Amino acid sequence: MRKRSISSRVLAAAAVASIAAAAYLGTALELRAGAPVEPAPYLPSISDLMISTIQPRHIRLWIAAHEGNWEFGAYELGNLKGAFNRLGHAHPTVEANSLPDMVSAVTGQPFADLTAAVKAKDLAAFDKSYADLTSACNSCHQALNHGAVVIKVPQQAAVSDQDFSPRSP
Ligand code: HEC
Repeated sequence: MRKRSISSRVLAAAAVASIAAAAYLGTALELRAGAPVEPAPYLPSISDLMISTIQPRHIRLWIAAHEGNWEFGAYELGNLKGAFNRLGHAHPTVEANSLPDMVSAVTGQPFADLTAAVKAKDLAAFDKSYADLTSACNSCHQALNHGAVVIKVPQQAAVSDQDFSPRSP
């Protein structure tokens, strides 16, 4: 007897669940037929942008110069600067500091030196200013209590699906 009452309760619960599921589906279908649901705006965090827009370009710039592809190097240097600008627009402040001001304070000189080195196709000058840029990355991480994020000069080409060798003229 007891056994039976448990199984009828289970059946009743299943029935309630399927009514609820049908109601939910009905609402979902109504929503689909009615006004479009606006997606929530998504603002990638500073770290999202660091790993998606800054870090890959920091690597690719180095590969370009070490492959002797100065044309691509100039292109990627421009993209890296642009990525920092967009980061500053997306996140104007970080821990009560102006993010764009911090970026220009630490990257201004290395970027100017890198621009000159790329233009002159001078690998020694490039390596020096690239090391300065890399120190600039770390000085900001340390200043903003993210000293655990340590950036270094790449050791080898690590983008396996792109040919960085210079185009033949
Ligand atoms: C203006 C300051 C600033 C500069 C300059 C800067 N960063 Fe960052 N970076 C940050 C902050 C702040 C974080 C941590 C964000 C967080 O976790 O909310 C971060 C985090 C990172 C991370 C870790 C992201 C993760 O999720 O693991 C990487 C990688 C990174 N930065 C790369 C770089 C590189 C490469 C450069 C230089 C080309 C650079 N950053 C320059 C402020 C800076």
